[in-house]
Amino acid sequence: MTKRIDTTRKACIELFCGSSGSGKSYKVKSKIIKAKRLVIFDPDDEYGELANIITVTNAQALLTKLKQNPKGGLRIRYVANGEAAFNVWSKAVFAWGNCVAVAEEIAGVTSPGKAPQGWHTLVSRGRKRGITLYAVTQRPSESDKTILGNLSSIWVGRMSRAKDRKYMAAELDVHVNDLTELKALDYLERDMLSNVVMRGNSKENWQKPLDEYKAAA
Ligand SMILES: Nc1ncnc2c1ncn2[C@@H]1O[C@H](COP(=O)(O)OP(=O)(O)OP(=O)(O)O)[C@@H](O)[C@H]1O
Ligand SMILES: [Mg+2]
Repeated sequence: MTKRIDTTRKACIELFCGSSGSGKSYKVKSKIIKAKRLVIFDPDDEYGELANIITVTNAQALLTKLKQNPKGGLRIRYVANGEAAFNVWSKAVFAWGNCVAVAEEIAGVTSPGKAPQGWHTLVSRGRKRGITLYAVTQRPSESDKTILGNLSSIWVGRMSRAKDRKYMAAELDVHVNDLTELKALDYLERDMLSNVVMRGNSKENWQKPLDEYKAAA
């Protein structure tokens, strides 16, 4: 039987950053195809095409659906905006547990100095509840920093703003030029356990270690 609280579970919190059109949501969608228990914060209404997804637009409907399915399969997205809605979503995900959670555009609902309490709890304690978390943002330098200390991997696509490139180059531990030269649907991905940085292109479907890529260039 799956334990509700299990401190031995591996952390799975992945951050996806990049400008509009850099392929973040496409990438996340490819990762959640098979998720049986899935809950998405979807402020830009981007996940309607997913198979077997239920859409709710108010907090009460979200909470009711989750309560009706304490353990079983459910794929649901909450199309809403604002910090209060995000806090309700975060708390609901934490209480639900054993699921895959997607938080879209966290810079819209958090800032470096301010994030809802529910989000802090989800990021810092969700692992023990079996929660895999995918967080997405166009503007990483303007979003909550708590997540950075808890990540298992960082995916960074093309970023048009120098401020964000500089910020994420430091987090990836790469030279900022490695980000400046990314073209459409190119990405860098750092595994925070092994510290290996890969470079790839999601449309061309290849990836190789950044060092190898640079040596061959
Ligand atoms: N690997 C891929 N193969 C083919 N098409 C892709 C791929 N990745 C992204 N695309 C296409 O590129 C476009 C932009 O991708 P996507 O919607 O994922 O961007 P985004 O980073 O989420 O942007 P935004 O921040 O505006 O939401 C979409 O039309 C998507 O279908
Ligand atoms: Mg998107």
